[in-house]
Amino acid sequence: MKQDIGIGLLGLGVIGSGVANILLNKVDTLTEKVGAPLVLKKILVHDITKKRQVVTDTSLLTTNVEDVIDNPEVDIVIELIGGERPALDYIKQALANGKHVVTANKEVIAKYGYDLLALANKHRTYLRYEASVGSGIPLISSLQHDLAANEISTIYGILNGTTNYVLTKMSQEGLSFSAALQQAQNLGYAEANPSNDIQGTDAAYKLAILSSLAFYTTIDPKDIYCQGISHLEAQDFRYAKEFGYTIKLLAIAKRHGDSIEVRVHPSFIPQWSQLAKVDDVYNAVQIEGDLAGKLIFYGEGAGSLRASSAVIADVLAIAGNVRNMIGNVTEPQINQNLDVQAISELHTRYYFRLKVADRPGVLAQISKALGDNDISISSVIQKESDLTSQTAVLVIMTHRAQEKAVQKALADLHSLELVQEVSNFIRVEA
Ligand code: HSE
Repeated sequence: MKQDIGIGLLGLGVIGSGVANILLNKVDTLTEKVGAPLVLKKILVHDITKKRQVVTDTSLLTTNVEDVIDNPEVDIVIELIGGERPALDYIKQALANGKHVVTANKEVIAKYGYDLLALANKHRTYLRYEASVGSGIPLISSLQHDLAANEISTIYGILNGTTNYVLTKMSQEGLSFSAALQQAQNLGYAEANPSNDIQGTDAAYKLAILSSLAFYTTIDPKDIYCQGISHLEAQDFRYAKEFGYTIKLLAIAKRHGDSIEVRVHPSFIPQWSQLAKVDDVYNAVQIEGDLAGKLIFYGEGAGSLRASSAVIADVLAIAGNVRNMIGNVTEPQINQNLDVQAISELHTRYYFRLKVADRPGVLAQISKALGDNDISISSVIQKESDLTSQTAVLVIMTHRAQEKAVQKALADLHSLELVQEVSNFIRVEA
């Protein structure tokens, strides 16, 4: 049996500091759980001279990554640098050196998870990544272990706290997109590069990880249809409410036999649904399995303490095995090669907002353009007639239609002289 478990940390930012704080200050509790002390041996930082509150012993710090990933005293490497490079290279090198790895890195796991798990298995080491999706919400291990007996049919996720905050403010306070985003940035919620949040990329990485696990396949994030939230306007939220809906950035995965639908985009969802009530920076994931039924996981999807909860849990799970000298013999499981459905094949309901000339015969022409494309209107409301410019806003909800036809119909509408603007279209999930 090993007498103590050596830990190396890559990165001492917000999450890294939270993790270091727990490792340095919860020694007794952690030792009790593992049966041996977890000893923080080295931490990779950019700048050793920077004053830090959590780590005062500067001999723990290094700017040389080899001091962590090649260090014979280190058993488990925790990667909290984020982003693709150099984090990916460090993780590979650590695994090849026989180190176990814990990471919160959604981009690396979404893009290279399968290869890294295979590499870990080759070296009999463990790779865990619970914090990569939903931070402290226990999603990864639930899919890997607790739901293993299920055939999963659907995943609906609100997986990005920043965009959920922005959408909540637009819906509840009528703020514009840019004013709400500014608030989110002032509160420190957005990623260093907020476009990853806003364009849906962050949610797509997380959906790739969840759906790969749920469907025993590999989903490349590049294959996930992804649309962000910057085109939404406060009036879309007002009209959504009139129809009994709210708007959320949903990450959706659905199994259809040998193919899978994976998409991230703003969706109308019914106000009565549980996901509609997930506000501010909260995340939630609804998973449906044939045995467990519908489950909802809900919590804060970001922040130092929340991520530390998941990172330290992964460390504890590995440390127990390190203590007993049990190496990883589990090969990554891929049983299905599921085709990713093109977005043009999607069947759902749609919301359109148009700016049109306010004169006789307009509705007839619009419903003809939709009807010609096999799209049936479920309701239509005329809004905000402007007497001076003789224009009006038309808000239309359709019955189920095919995306391909909807795109064609939008182009047809655009070319009508009486349609001044196709202002927005949003998919409806109901
Ligand atoms: N920027 C992410 C979010 C943080 O807003 O949810 C956690 O991945």
